[in-house]
Amino acid sequence: MQQMGKIIISIDGWSSTGKSTLAKQLAKALGYIYVDSGAMYRAITLYFLRNHVDWTNKKEVKRALQEINIEFQNNLKTETSTIFLNGENVEYVIRDLVVAEKVSEIAAIKEVREFAVAQQKNMGKQKGIIMDGRDIGTVVFPRAELKIFMTADSSVRVERRFKELFEKNPNITIEEVKSNLEMRDYIDSHREISPLKKAKDSLLLDNTNLTEREQFQKAMEWVQKKISG
Ligand code: CDP
Repeated sequence: MQQMGKIIISIDGWSSTGKSTLAKQLAKALGYIYVDSGAMYRAITLYFLRNHVDWTNKKEVKRALQEINIEFQNNLKTETSTIFLNGENVEYVIRDLVVAEKVSEIAAIKEVREFAVAQQKNMGKQKGIIMDGRDIGTVVFPRAELKIFMTADSSVRVERRFKELFEKNPNITIEEVKSNLEMRDYIDSHREISPLKKAKDSLLLDNTNLTEREQFQKAMEWVQKKISG
């Protein structure tokens, strides 16, 4: 049964706009489930790479998808969400640039999207969920009560992602990060199926000049309006 007062919140937007940071803050404050839909596409990509799946071959893709089981574990206290691929914790390894270089190509495949979207829709049945990604407000939860679309200046986004990746791999260059973000944003917004676009009924959050706290406060105001009204 749907719980009283609980809503669905979708957060879409360009890469490295802080979607997951905001989603985790909101999930903690509201006691909601947080689902990182991008992590699912990254986990599928990791599986394809590790198992040398030829993703240009539909039959191979279909067969491989049948072997993939994805699960999430949420810890609201630590604001963390961990993804498991066939029982293995892959939260850390899927953030690698090797995965980021192929994920948008793989996320554009029809079968891959159907596989992920079916599971995502299922997760929203009880409401009380925040999901971030590219097509959450447009395709996965077109009737979400609150839709947020995030953006920020591209130089700020590149810097944020560079800092994050540099901590793990000091060999990474800012040029590599920049070209990966540009490539993904291009493929994500130009693909045929479920391209990244702002849902008409979404609220725009540009966090170029906002601190994490400021963006959280702004989003919480929107949430409270939706819940009370
Ligand atoms: O963290 P960042 O915004 O850079 O990316 P992500 O959310 O981890 O998503 C990685 C990639 O998965 C994106 O660049 C998209 O190609 C794909 N994706 C998608 O197609 N649909 C979604 N709902 C979420 C991610």
